[in-house]
Amino acid sequence: MKRIWWKEAVGYQIYPKSFKDTNGDGIGDIKGIVEKLPYLKELGIDFIWICPFYPSPMKDNGYDVADYYGIDPCFGTMEDMEFLLKKADESGIRVIVDMVLNHSSDQHKWFQEALKDPNSKYRDYYMFVQSKERPSNTRSCFGGSVWENVGEDTWYYHTFDKSQPDLNWENPQLREEVYNILNFWIEKGVSGFRFDAITYIKKADSLKSHEPDNTDGLIGVEKTGQNQKGIDKFLREMNRKCLSDPEIMTVAEAPGVPYENLAEFIGEDGYFSMVFDFSYADIDLCGPNWYNQAPWTFGDLKKLLFRSQCSVQTQGWGAVYLENHDQSRSLNKYFREKAAAKDDLHLRFLQGSALAALLMGLRGTVFIYQGEELGSVNGTFNSIEEYDDLNTRDQYQRALRAGFDVAQSLKFANDRSRDNSRMPFPWNEEEHGGFTSGTPWLKCNDDYASICAEKQSQDKNSLLYYYRNLIQVRKDEANRECLIYGEVREIENAVESVIAFERIAENGEKIQIWINMSDEIQKADIIEGELLCNNYSEFNRTSLQPYQAVMVR
Ligand code: NOJ
Repeated sequence: MKRIWWKEAVGYQIYPKSFKDTNGDGIGDIKGIVEKLPYLKELGIDFIWICPFYPSPMKDNGYDVADYYGIDPCFGTMEDMEFLLKKADESGIRVIVDMVLNHSSDQHKWFQEALKDPNSKYRDYYMFVQSKERPSNTRSCFGGSVWENVGEDTWYYHTFDKSQPDLNWENPQLREEVYNILNFWIEKGVSGFRFDAITYIKKADSLKSHEPDNTDGLIGVEKTGQNQKGIDKFLREMNRKCLSDPEIMTVAEAPGVPYENLAEFIGEDGYFSMVFDFSYADIDLCGPNWYNQAPWTFGDLKKLLFRSQCSVQTQGWGAVYLENHDQSRSLNKYFREKAAAKDDLHLRFLQGSALAALLMGLRGTVFIYQGEELGSVNGTFNSIEEYDDLNTRDQYQRALRAGFDVAQSLKFANDRSRDNSRMPFPWNEEEHGGFTSGTPWLKCNDDYASICAEKQSQDKNSLLYYYRNLIQVRKDEANRECLIYGEVREIENAVESVIAFERIAENGEKIQIWINMSDEIQKADIIEGELLCNNYSEFNRTSLQPYQAVMVR
């Protein structure tokens, strides 16, 4: 197994709008990230992935890029970014940036030119089609048709919002532009990229109509637009032209890649270092509508988790995460009605540390999402107007159209809203959690004073300390071969609500990880050995307390 820095790394995802504001405009900024590097260093982080910071009209919070070479003024300047790269490097923290290359913003100058002048070379940078009728019945990820009419029987295609027109990767000049962008950022000093929605770049089936999957007469682009035949040509070329240095870490958001084809993406000669798998993160959903909540059991969760882990380990490297900026908080997702109430800090510690042990025990590069290390939970949003996210508002409307009442539709939004994880980071007990001296762009969660980073840094029994400790356990020379490179094997005879697995190094050394996901005492059969972590003060090998999680070598 090849050794390389990003396999051993623990990453931290930063949503820059919500991390730390230094100028009082209520929006987090790059200077704020610089200010908080010591916090990340102390946590044990090796790289940060920063969500988009490019100039953007912010219809989709930066995932609508208007200039791939700049910095949005709300986040600072290119000098700030260069300073961050320098300071991060001095702290031994690498920087990964988000690349949104399936689409741009409709405010990008390419699109503006393309709209203005049908003969401009930029017209073919996008997917324009002449047609009397809507060209296909494909539904975009954020609702409604993927086709937007711009008059005179002209339509353009958008996988996401209509303000995010898709780029036409069939055009070699467009592809050259993309490669120049990547090389520009590599020269600036970034250590890698997270590729947004990259499996949508090849259009084929979604340009044609299909049997509708709902009463709106449309069919989701998730079904017809992901990972289409011919995508390999684009991904291989991009890899050859920009990403062939193995030191460059790449992680792709790549829905629609079947497990049996994973090697093409993440194998020795794959297009990327690793991809995110959504199977277990989306365990709570049946399809794209949030109102179709899935009933699931811990048995189902284990099946998904270990199918993912086992498929990845035979074909390449993986990325493990429980939260990101598109997900609700993991305590709410995985413990549902059993999730700790906001004021039950002890239960929050137990559940948070149980999930931390899972995350640090799995095989793959670990991604922690900002605030996860504090045990953040979902926010309380009392009306749809309190949400910023366009996806949440669309999903709320979908629920209403499907016949749910306002309260039920709001509940679906609350359970799943991306704004749950986008609320300002709680730094201290001051107003707005010390995130800003101004008015935050999205309200703070009302528990900020009790879980804030400052408080947890002063408490050796806090979840934050637990995370710091676990990260060190993972990196410890004595555990590294097992916890980083070791094979994953599920312990199949564990009871249903106990996630149990072992990591086995090439030399046969073993670490077992046992996590009781339930609120009752459960039976266990843990190997004898050195206890590496335990979220209780007591331990016995034959049973686990509610939410108890242990690692034994
Ligand atoms: C996936 C990103 O993670 C999400 O936040 C965004 O809305 C869409 N892609 C569109 O870029």
